[in-house]
Amino acid sequence: MSDSAPAIELEDVRKSFGQRRVLDGVSLSVGAAETVALIGPSGCGKTTALKLVNRLLDADAGTVRVLGRDVRGEDPVALRRRLGYVIQEGGLFPHWTVRQNVETVAKLVGWDPERRRRRAEELLEMVNLAPAEFGPRRPRQLSGGQRQRVAVGRAIVRHPQVFLFDEPLSNLDAKLRVQMRVELKRLHERLETTAIYVTHDQVEAMTLGSRVVVMRDGWVQQVGDPMEIYTRPQNRFVAGFIGHPPMNLLPGAIRSDPAPSVSFGEGVGFRITKAARDRMGDIREGGRFVLGFRPEHARLRKDGADRERSVRLDLIEPMGSEVWLEVVWGDRGLRVKVPADFDGTVGQEFELEIDESRLHFFDPGGGGRIA
Ligand SMILES: Nc1ncnc2c1ncn2[C@@H]1O[C@H](COP(=O)(O)OP(=O)(O)O)[C@@H](O)[C@H]1O
Ligand SMILES: [Mg+2]
Repeated sequence: MSDSAPAIELEDVRKSFGQRRVLDGVSLSVGAAETVALIGPSGCGKTTALKLVNRLLDADAGTVRVLGRDVRGEDPVALRRRLGYVIQEGGLFPHWTVRQNVETVAKLVGWDPERRRRRAEELLEMVNLAPAEFGPRRPRQLSGGQRQRVAVGRAIVRHPQVFLFDEPLSNLDAKLRVQMRVELKRLHERLETTAIYVTHDQVEAMTLGSRVVVMRDGWVQQVGDPMEIYTRPQNRFVAGFIGHPPMNLLPGAIRSDPAPSVSFGEGVGFRITKAARDRMGDIREGGRFVLGFRPEHARLRKDGADRERSVRLDLIEPMGSEVWLEVVWGDRGLRVKVPADFDGTVGQEFELEIDESRLHFFDPGGGGRIA
């Protein structure tokens, strides 16, 4: 992030609809030319947060600043003109052609027809739609992906310094979404504008955001760069939300006798090294915690002799590049991700190996990270 003032700032922002509190003290800052991805389950307040930035809504409390200025002091229409806003449905005018849709925005700012025409062509090309072919069409004569491209092009017309994307790709089918995601990333690198990118898709969040903000129920759960969110989730919610398939989370207890180990019930558990035990310093002997480990950080060994780590293979899902497994350990189901050459059959017993350096420990009550 640059040293200059943040381009977008939310400070302890609160918003309720009637009795329902939708944003409960959200703070967030986006640096100049930075893309922050805002991710969280449906209904957690993402759209509401964006609408506070372009003043489609006003906060009940707290401050929202865009390019250093409190948005409450700005004329909402003028403010919106300075921001590029792209929504899920695209928001194109159905009776106008693609060209008219793009040009209209420029018309609003009073550009002359020649300049509007040139800019519309430039933009359609930028979003990979040949102006001669697509310019005369109406939105319904386009595929979903093409419509979203027009919407993105339209948002760029006036060189906004700030983009607000609200799940722009979620109406598209999987293949197109991947393609558009790559295009958006390239476009962003080229334009170097500031953006908030709202999504419920973790791959989009991780790949497009230089930082990721994870929200839940109107709260920011964690802010970090994508790898930090993945390697050091601050609580159980983030741990279970980011990662696919999700992190395994097992309530357990610590034992020290005869050797340091974690236990998940009678005859189910594994030894840990003293170093790992020391990392969990705050958990007392017999103390309870929730252990987390990702499916990709476990392996299955044939011919293992450790009964406490014995698992039964329950389900095999070949994914092509890898294989996802479900195994039963004691009375719990776990996910394990293994290389594509995995050789095993349902019902077979294996010894579970978990990479000790990749263990996560969470508080069983509040869910916060312990180690
Ligand atoms: N205008 C509104 N009136 C009442 N409730 C609303 C309004 N807008 C959103 N909500 C509610 O606020 C919560 C958060 O909505 P939203 O910000 O759209 O979530 P998200 O974009 O994360 O899915 C939801 O429970 C939604 O039903
Ligand atoms: Mg939304």
